[in-house]
Amino acid sequence: MTPTAARRTLFTPPVPASPFPYHPGSLLSVTDLTVEGVSRLLARATELENHDPLLRDHILAKRRVALLFYESSTRTRTSFELASKALGADTTLISSLSSSIEKGESLKDTGLTLRALGAEAIILRHNSSGAPWLLEEATRLPVINAGDGMHEHPTQALLDLRTILAHLDPRTKTCHPELSNDRHPERSHPAARDGAVEGPAFSNFREITSETLAGVTITITGDILHSRVARSNMLLLPRLGARVLLCGPKELLPQQAAGAGPGIEIERDFDAALRQSQIVMMLRIQAERLAGLQLDLDEYKAAYQLTGQRLAAHAPAAVVLHPGPIIRGLEITAGVADGPQSAILEQVTNGVAIRMAVVERALLAGGNGAPADRPSSVEPQQGGLA
Ligand code: NCD
Repeated sequence: MTPTAARRTLFTPPVPASPFPYHPGSLLSVTDLTVEGVSRLLARATELENHDPLLRDHILAKRRVALLFYESSTRTRTSFELASKALGADTTLISSLSSSIEKGESLKDTGLTLRALGAEAIILRHNSSGAPWLLEEATRLPVINAGDGMHEHPTQALLDLRTILAHLDPRTKTCHPELSNDRHPERSHPAARDGAVEGPAFSNFREITSETLAGVTITITGDILHSRVARSNMLLLPRLGARVLLCGPKELLPQQAAGAGPGIEIERDFDAALRQSQIVMMLRIQAERLAGLQLDLDEYKAAYQLTGQRLAAHAPAAVVLHPGPIIRGLEITAGVADGPQSAILEQVTNGVAIRMAVVERALLAGGNGAPADRPSSVEPQQGGLA
């Protein structure tokens, strides 16, 4: 063996030949998590958020996390990076525009290169559905899906859930815009004032069960067809008891979506959906995935834009969510996005806490006694749109 080869053997761990199941630290789909696993992750997110920052950065000190982004991103990329760094990990960003990906390197070779450079976990955003599974198979590293094509975006669904829970009164099982965590003491709701909700509302949900969202109706409106955010939420929220109403025109919401799983219905009349909803999640039209589809934007706005007037008339007490990026004046007006019912920036903030818990799970699962959260038999993917 040449000295170079010997060095490579010493420093580059071989890719283990073990077949699937996947690495216990990976998070490829929300269906990777049991309800107890979701509960543990959210509880851990709160613990990590409240942790002394100077001690928190010992948890993953000098561990190496690679962020591999084939699509643009602001919120997801930045929050994964800040979350990893808050735990002390070293991060490196590889984006398709400034790396050998531009020269044609494959996902597999890029993954193996990152592994050889010492990456211990890879956070992947990719324009092809299923890419995270391929990457994990190639590298055997824990892979976190940060959005794959039109398929899934599991950490977005978890941070959406955390935001919903922060607005849910556990006594009445109703959501209130003004019932929020302690970042908004001025928005105090009676349930918060009379002690039913102490401090951060999240502490009321130490345990999440299949009943936690029973009685809560969540409307998701817009470009459902192309949305990995919608899909991950559709796969997660009904498992916690929620009723999910999907709303949008046929071009962006095929009728088959109603069969996507239990607890999911289609309501094409936005006003009727709003009247039934405690949570309204708006989605942008994904122009980059429309592939020639022509939409009359004036018609779309008349039927589906969330305006102040519409919200006041049909859902004056609902909490408004949007995963971003928001296109002001298209799916949502500026007044609603910035208004008192909007929890859009809380979603962004919740992303950091959730991603701390997910990155910690990736690096400690199976190694330092962190429990693996996978269902004993992986639940089949429910009916798909993409
Ligand atoms: C979304 C995404 O990239 O899937 N945004 C996000 O991650 N917060 C939604 C979108 O692009 O419209």
